[in-house]
Order: sequence, then structure tokens, then C-alpha cells
Amino acid sequence: MDFKTLVPGAGGAAAVAADALLVVVGGESVPAALGKALAGACQQVTDAGDFAFKNGRTAYLTSVPGVKAPRLVFAHAKDGSVAAFRKALSAGLALLKGGGTRHLAVTSAGASDADGATAEALVSAVHDAVYTYRTTKPSAPAAPALKAVTLVCAKAQATAAEAGLKRGQGIAAGVALARECANRPANHCTPSVLAAEARKLGKAAHTKVQVLDRKDVEKLGMGSFLAVAKGSDEPLKFIVLRYQGAAKSEAPVVLVGKGITFDTGGISLKPGAEMDEMKFDMGGAASVLGAFRALADLQPRLNVVGLIPACENMPSGRSVKPGDVVTSMSGQTIEILNTDAEGRLILCDALTYAERFKPAAVVDIATLTGACVIALGHHRTGLFTPDDGLAAELMTAGELSLDPAWRMPVDDEYDEGLKSNFADMANIAGRPGGAVTAAMFLKRFTAKYPWAHLDIAGTAWKSGAAKGATGRPVPLLTHFLLERAGA
Ligand code: BES
Ligand code: MN
Ligand code: ZN
Repeated sequence: MDFKTLVPGAGGAAAVAADALLVVVGGESVPAALGKALAGACQQVTDAGDFAFKNGRTAYLTSVPGVKAPRLVFAHAKDGSVAAFRKALSAGLALLKGGGTRHLAVTSAGASDADGATAEALVSAVHDAVYTYRTTKPSAPAAPALKAVTLVCAKAQATAAEAGLKRGQGIAAGVALARECANRPANHCTPSVLAAEARKLGKAAHTKVQVLDRKDVEKLGMGSFLAVAKGSDEPLKFIVLRYQGAAKSEAPVVLVGKGITFDTGGISLKPGAEMDEMKFDMGGAASVLGAFRALADLQPRLNVVGLIPACENMPSGRSVKPGDVVTSMSGQTIEILNTDAEGRLILCDALTYAERFKPAAVVDIATLTGACVIALGHHRTGLFTPDDGLAAELMTAGELSLDPAWRMPVDDEYDEGLKSNFADMANIAGRPGGAVTAAMFLKRFTAKYPWAHLDIAGTAWKSGAAKGATGRPVPLLTHFLLERAGA
């Protein structure tokens, strides 16, 4: 997809040559800024009752006099925010879906200005609208006709909009990779496949990738990760990605992604309903790969390490059993009371491994708990950190990228339930505050650096008719990294 900005001539947006013109309008009546032809058309459809200045309304017109593009779409944004612009745009794009539009022009009047953030939102909405999963569905609809998008903007905003389009495209490439990996069923996305995807990323500038196997993991003493992996016949992988965009001496940000390519629950077997969705349990890993894809594109000046412990969680004669005690890489012992709380067991060893990079910050990303879905639903990712500065950075990154998070508590009181009579800790506490106690478990392995945990169980994929991966939180992570790079 090709994205450009265009500062229109005297004729305004109406004179822009394209197959379709999508106009996002805000406010309560036809904005004066639209220009004569567009304002006339907008007034006409409004008077006819086919359009209204109300949230979510859209109208599709063809061959409007004075408008160069043969197709014209109006979409209403409820306010001047970037989020409202994006929503309106998506609604407008839906009207063009399946049609013959190859080149789309987009303009905005009385809604969010065509600045950097708006441009970025445009790219993400367009990519969302055209994404089709086809890896295991060859009969999926053919690729849409849309090939080029022009953002019509004022001269004063062209530079910012241009930068926004570039940033948006880096993020979109990352989101696409994350969605692709997560959508693939577990027999098409094994730990080895994740490792192969990582190796492909290793070809990018300033990027190196290393994959550790069972033997290496044994030598490192990752007894907790090994305990989860041992029930499966699929070989485990511990993937290490390194992006070096700054001086070697600069401390890196470490991203750790949960890479459970399928979570049956193990001996603490999950119920059958919706178990297929546990193919998405590597959404954290997918988001780390996606963030590295964005880094490859945007080449910011900072150092980033990505760590992905990847394996399946399966019941078998070799599986770890409830009550088993294992020794983590940190030396702390863990009583595994529930084999379905496996995410924290693979993450804790990766968090200990992270120490060797003397990180500036570590952020882990995991589809960790059903409890987080109960707490926050599907809109905001759970953000857990004792570090106020890191919390603010990640919250801001989420707001700016329209990939929002919400801070959750990590008070010591929540740690109580993890006590065990047979090990330094248990891997579960009671049902109350399940997302928080999972975070408290991880926290026990993060004493050596600033740390944050993102529970994406509610945001990494959608259920129901639109079942599929979202690519979240690649936008949040990329914004966080770019901001750290001072870009
Ligand atoms: N991968 C799941 C978490 C999950 C469940 C994400 C449902 C999205 C939807 C995780 O490994 C898990 O099974 N967690 C358990 C923890 C419990 C045993 C303490 C859970 O949430 O039920
Ligand atoms: Mn589980
Ligand atoms: Zn899981």
C-alpha cells in the first residue's frame, strides 16, 4: 500500500484526482471548510435524510458535480479526537469494501486535523480494512483493489502528516506480522515456526537473532520453562532478538513475549469450549516480533532486546503434575499447583535471563489471565508496574497509538496468596484478583531492573464472528520505543 500526503490547489479536496474521496466531517452541521461542491453535496444528502451529523453516520454518493473523484463518501466523527477520526474512517472504508477503488483520497473537515497522529490513524484504519487472513484459507476473498491512499492536508501540517504516515506504515507492518503469526493455528505456528519468523527479522539492518534449544535452556537452568515444555513432543525454542540502533554501551529495553503456541492447560486441562482460541496464547510473542518488524522499518536510535520463550502446554505421560516443585533459573523454587498457570512459569525464566543485558527497562507482554479479561474486558490492556515513570510512558504510548492500557495495582498485599509450604512460592493464588496475583508472581523475578507487565488476554484477539488476532499491543510498544529513542 502506497501512502502520500497532498496539499490541494485552489479547488480544494473536491479537485483531487482519485477513484474515491472519503470526507470525515465533524460538528453538527456542514463545515464551511468543505468548499462549495462538497458542502453542497453534504447538505443535499443531509436534507434528504441520507446522512446526519451524528456519531457513526455515513453516506455514499457517485458522480457528484464539481467533485473529481467518481465516488464520494461522508463519514461523521463525533468529536475532534484522533480516535473519533479513526472510527469514522473505518465506517467510511466499509462502504468502499469490495468495490473498485484503487486510489483513495481522504480529507477531514470539522474533525481531527490531518496532523501526524491523524495520518498514523489513517494508515492503521486502512490496513485494518484490507487485512485478510489467507495462510490456511486459500479460498479467502481476493486481495482488495485498494493500492494507494492520499491524505489531503493543509500545507502547515504536511511535514507532520508525512512523518505520521511513515510511522504508521512501520507500525502497520508490525501489526500485520503479529496478526499473521497469531492467526495461524497451532499446527502451523509451532515454536519452530516462531523461531523461523524471528530469523527472517534477523536479516534487517542492525538486527541479530539467536535461537536457543532445549540443551541450551537446560544448561541455563531454566527449570520452570522446561517444566511447561516437557509435556509436548514439539521442541521448545528460546528466541533472542537484538536490535542495535544506538551505541553498544547504551542499556537496552528488553521486551519479553509469552510464546505458548497452544495452551491446553496441561494436566490441569481446560474445558473444551473455545479451547481453539488458545492458539492465540503466543500473542505476546507475536507482538514482540511485530515490534521488531516496526524497528526494522523505522530504525530508531536505541537498543532493544526481544526474548521469547516458546513451547506448547500439553497433557502427556511426561507432563509436569500439580504439586510438582521446580527450580527456576533465579534459584527460587516453585510449587506448580495448577499447570494451566503456565505463562508465568515460562516468563519468569525469561525475566531472569533478561538480567544479563543490564536493561534500562523490561516490559513483558502476555495473554496471561482470564481474570484480566473479566477486569478490563477487550478495550484496554492490563498494565502492571511498581514504577510510576514507566507506567506513565506506557500509558501515554497507549493513548497516542489508540492502543490503550489501564494501570492495575501491584501492592505487596496481593503477594500473600502465593505462599507455599513446599517451595519458595506457588504458581497460583486464589481466584480473587487473578490478574494481579499473576503479576505479583512475575514481580518476584524482576528485582534487578525497572519492569512492567502487559496482560493482553483481552486485547490480543477477538472472539465471535470476527474471530482473529488484533496485532495489539504492537502500536503501544512501538510508540513507547520511539519515545525512548527520542524520535
Ligand atoms: N492463556 C491463559 C489465559 C487466558 C485465558 C487468556 C482465557 C485468554 C482467555 C493462561 O495460561 C491461563 O490459563 N490462566 C489461568 C490462570 C489460573 C489457572 C490461575 C486462567 O486465567 O484461568
Ligand atoms: Mn494456561
Ligand atoms: Zn496460557
